[in-house]
Amino acid sequence: MTDTRSLFAPARLGDVEIQNRIAMAPMTRNRSPGAVPNDLNALYYGQRGTAGLVITEGTTPDAGGRGYIDIPGLYNAAQVAGWRRVTDAVHAKGGRIFVQLMHTGRISHPDFLDGGSPVAPSAVAAAGAIVTRDGQKPHPVPRALAAEEIPVVIATYGRAARLAIEAGFDGVEIHGANGYLPSQFLSTNANLRTDDWGGSVENRARFLLGAVDAAAKAIGAGRVGLRVSPGSTFNDVADTDPEATLTHIATALRGQGLAYLHLVGGAYTYDAAGIARRLFDGPLMLNGGYDRARAEADIAAGRADIISFGSSFLANPDLPERLRTGAALNTPDTATFYGGDARGYTDYPVLVAAAA
Ligand SMILES: Cc1cc2nc3c(=O)[nH]c(=O)nc-3n(C[C@H](O)[C@H](O)[C@H](O)COP(=O)(O)O)c2cc1C
Repeated sequence: MTDTRSLFAPARLGDVEIQNRIAMAPMTRNRSPGAVPNDLNALYYGQRGTAGLVITEGTTPDAGGRGYIDIPGLYNAAQVAGWRRVTDAVHAKGGRIFVQLMHTGRISHPDFLDGGSPVAPSAVAAAGAIVTRDGQKPHPVPRALAAEEIPVVIATYGRAARLAIEAGFDGVEIHGANGYLPSQFLSTNANLRTDDWGGSVENRARFLLGAVDAAAKAIGAGRVGLRVSPGSTFNDVADTDPEATLTHIATALRGQGLAYLHLVGGAYTYDAAGIARRLFDGPLMLNGGYDRARAEADIAAGRADIISFGSSFLANPDLPERLRTGAALNTPDTATFYGGDARGYTDYPVLVAAAA
């Protein structure tokens, strides 16, 4: 990290140099039919390559972790080739790009798994429904992973990390947030296991920390980031003591040289950002409803090293330039967030250059 505490100053995240402290937050866009990234996806990400760091949408590290319509994967050669076009487009703008590895666990449906059951720590269905090609369907009761299967699933994060480097990514972000598989393991309502993978916070965090470790062993810790949201109830997870969970995770990751820890934005019932800052010794990324003033204040105060922007980056391909100049922002069109074509994806206008 440089000492220059400005949103627009370069910085270092583990092994990766970034041109500014503005990140594009991971956002699922459901526009990769066949789970293979395509030229439209490359155009979209390339348009946003003036970010210091682009984090891709949640991407399946293994066929068993599929969920949602037309989300991309990273477990076969066609996907590596597709992602290569994306990473080249971002690098051409000077940006760095990490792929977010998202195993959906119980937030899936047999429709996405060739009729198979989603897997999870325990056979507990999430409340609510998932959008399938045939409309909304209730979340099914998942199949509880057998203890001997768990290391096999963890190993898929290492394999996907190696494929990420092959595809030209600068690193990977493990999705440990928002009620997907690692977050299901962390939770006290989705994880009812009584073996080494459930019960105490050490046991509930074993899957997540194992996934981070698998990726770090594969490509080096300095190219691995982690996203968490302890206390968030998104996708029907619960945690009776989220502060203890974050304390354990941040402490366990000390001294490992990770690229960053990324906290999902939101209303926590405890000082999540402060705990992460105090206990984790690497770069900290904060997120959630940031505008320029708040982002600059948090960087200047040393509360964060980098800020990720979600919907505002979705709607403003040139967000760093707009923040730098104080220009007005385009408004995100929520109707085109999840699926569709170029509309609401690659057609948001950029600032018109001032006449020479
Ligand atoms: C369309 C959309 C898709 C999202 N998909 C993901 C995702 O795949 N993975 C993830 O960790 N968060 C996802 N999020 C959450 C964002 O990364 C971010 O935390 C959230 O938008 C809050 O940041 P913001 O206030 O800057 O938009 C998504 C958000 C949006 C708006």
